[in-house]
Amino acid sequence: MSECESCFTPLIRLDVNHLMSDVVGERYGISANELDAAQQAATAAFEAVKRNRGQGWLGWTELPYNQDDIVADIEQTATSIRKRFKAFVVLGIGGSALGPIAVHQALNHLHYNELSDEIRRGPRLYVEDNIDPERMQALLDVVDVKTTCFNVITKSGATAETMSQYLIVTEALKKAVGDGWQQHIIATTDREKGNLIKLAQLEGFKTFYIPSSVGGRFSQLSPVGLLAAAVCGINIRLMLSGAKCMDQRCATDRIWDNPALLEAVIQHVLMESGINVHVMMPYADSLKYMADWFCQLWAESLGKNVTRKGMAVNVGQTPVKSLGVTDQHSQLQLYTEGPYDKVITFLKVEAFRATTAIPHGCEEFPDVAFLGGKTLNQLIEAERQGTEYALLRAGRMSQTITLPIVNEHTIGQLLYFLELVTAYVGELLDIDAFNQPGVEESKIASYAVLGHTGDKYRLKQQEMAAAPASQEKYIL
Ligand code: PA5
Repeated sequence: MSECESCFTPLIRLDVNHLMSDVVGERYGISANELDAAQQAATAAFEAVKRNRGQGWLGWTELPYNQDDIVADIEQTATSIRKRFKAFVVLGIGGSALGPIAVHQALNHLHYNELSDEIRRGPRLYVEDNIDPERMQALLDVVDVKTTCFNVITKSGATAETMSQYLIVTEALKKAVGDGWQQHIIATTDREKGNLIKLAQLEGFKTFYIPSSVGGRFSQLSPVGLLAAAVCGINIRLMLSGAKCMDQRCATDRIWDNPALLEAVIQHVLMESGINVHVMMPYADSLKYMADWFCQLWAESLGKNVTRKGMAVNVGQTPVKSLGVTDQHSQLQLYTEGPYDKVITFLKVEAFRATTAIPHGCEEFPDVAFLGGKTLNQLIEAERQGTEYALLRAGRMSQTITLPIVNEHTIGQLLYFLELVTAYVGELLDIDAFNQPGVEESKIASYAVLGHTGDKYRLKQQEMAAAPASQEKYIL
C-alpha cells in the first residue's frame, strides 16, 4: 500500500529487510519464524492498547479524532498571533518542547527565523527548552518582549525550569508593556492540576488544555504542538489526518499488516537478545530533531526498573540520535565495527522539497569532476545506501522508515507510528510506559539543593547530607 485508501495521500513505509537473518545473516538477524512466534504476545499487546484507547494514559490515541473545536480555536488564535506579534516563544521542556521543535524543523523553512517578514508565514519562533542563564539572556537580546507572545507549556504546571522562565518573562513584560502584559502570555496546561492553571485563571491568560490522559511525551498532537505549528502557518488538520491514517493502518493485530505492531515486536525481540542501543539516523536535516523527540519518547517510556507487577527488570534500549550524512564522519565507525549491541533506524526522504544540482567543474580532477551533473539529492541517498550496505556487510542490523515527502501528513503519520510502537513495546515488556519515576528523584534532589523548605525536600536534604562525600584525591 503506497497511499491512504481513504484520502489518497502517500504513506510512510517501514522496510525491515536489513534486520532479517535471510538478508543480514544468521548470527545477528531475526528470522521471520521468530517474529511469527511472537504473534500471540503481539495480539495481547494490541488488544490491551485497543481496550484502553482514550483512557488512562492513552488519551493521545484519540487526539486525531476528538479535537475539532480545539483545532478551530487554535487556528483562530494563531491568526490573531500572526497579526499581533513578531516573535512567538515556547517556554517548556521535555515533552512540552521536543515535539514543537521537531515539527518546526520538519515543516518550516530550515532558516525560518532568518526569512524576511514578507516571506515567513508567521512570527519568528523560538523554543526555549533549557534554563542555561546565557541562553535566556540571549533570547531577551534578540526578541522585543513588547512584540512577543510567550506560550508557557507545562502539563504538571509545576516544572521548575518552565516556571522560572515564566517568572523571568512576566517580570520583563510587566516592565516593558505594563497594563495588558497578560495578553502576551498563552498558557498550555492541565485543566485542573498545577500552578499554571491557577495563575492563568488569576491573570486571565488565554489557555489551552492538555487532556489529563495525555502525557508530556505523547502530547505533540495536542495544543502543546499544534499551537506553535499553526502560528507558523503549518496545516495542523493535515497533521492530524496523517496521524489518523496511521491509526487506521494499525487497526489489526496481524503483525505483517500492522507496521507499528511489527516494529514493536521486532524491537522487543532485539531487546531480549541484548540489542541495547537504538540509533535513530535521519538522512534529512528536516528530520534532525525528530530523532531528539524519538529519544525522549523511547528512553523515558521504556527505561524502567520494574514490571507493572513490581518484578525487577531494568529494561529499555538506549536511544541515540545521529544525523546522516554528518554522523557518517563521526559515529559510523563505531556502528560498523564496535559492539554488536545496536540497531540503526534510517529515516529516508524519497522526494526532497528542493533539488540542488552539483555543477560541472574541476575537470582536471576526475574524482571531483565525477560529482558534476549529479544532484545533492542523489548524493545524500547514495550515501544512505552506502551506509546501509556497509552495515549489512559488517553483519549489522538496520531498518528504514521512508517518508515519500516531508509534509504535514507524513509527519503526522510518523509521530503517531512511533507513539504506537512505544505503547506496544510497553505492553510487550509489561511495564508502565507512561510514568517517569526516575526523573522525579532528580527533581526533588534539585529542590533540596536549592533549599526548598517543604517536608519532602528537607528529608531529601538530610538524605543527601548522609551520601558519601566527594574525596579530594579523586579530583584533579
Ligand atoms: O513526558 C513527560 O511527561 C515529561 O518529559 C514532561 O514532558 C517533562 O518533564 C515536562 O513536564 P511538564 O510538561 O509537566 O512541565
